Amino acid sequence: MPPGTSEAGRRLLLRRLYAKYETDTAFARVRSESGGVLVPGDGPMTPRLMFIGEAPGAREAKLRKPFVGASGNFLNEMLASVGIDRSEVFITNVVKYRPRDNRDPENHEVYAGIPYLRKEHALLGSPPMVVLGRHAKNTLGGEMAGWPIGKWFWFGRTPVLPLHHPAYGLYQSRNRPMMFEQFKAVLEVPVG
Ligand code: URA
Repeated sequence: MPPGTSEAGRRLLLRRLYAKYETDTAFARVRSESGGVLVPGDGPMTPRLMFIGEAPGAREAKLRKPFVGASGNFLNEMLASVGIDRSEVFITNVVKYRPRDNRDPENHEVYAGIPYLRKEHALLGSPPMVVLGRHAKNTLGGEMAGWPIGKWFWFGRTPVLPLHHPAYGLYQSRNRPMMFEQFKAVLEVPVG
């Protein structure tokens, strides 16, 4: 992105990026499953962190906003627990359409999403990234599969923190205290 591109200019480029996603044949199946309802990323254009989830659910598709259902409420709680307001972070998903019956994204859908995530990231000024769950982590490549949850690492010049997906604390509430504990790492972005 050319330095000095205005916030309005970057928002426009982001909208164009999503328009391209809407015609990408890699997402033909999931687009048709979702009835063509794309859920764009949400948040400020100079966020302190970029969160990446898996794919929107029913409520997200209805409101066309990521993480606004039960997982989103838990994510908001974890953000509040470390003193971060949701309005300070940008939240997006690897797959931007709701898969039928909340099926897992297919590998090709995850990998086809990577160039879009890279461009979103660049338009946001390359903030540190927090990847939620294994599908988001897979966008970093198979070699990251063994990286421990809750520890920052450098991915090129970007610090990346893999965390459990918020749904992990919804299905099993006993996971929540550990998740709140791990979430504190978002405050410890490494400096390069
Ligand atoms: N789960 C996700 O991964 N993304 C959302 O937007 C909502 C739930």
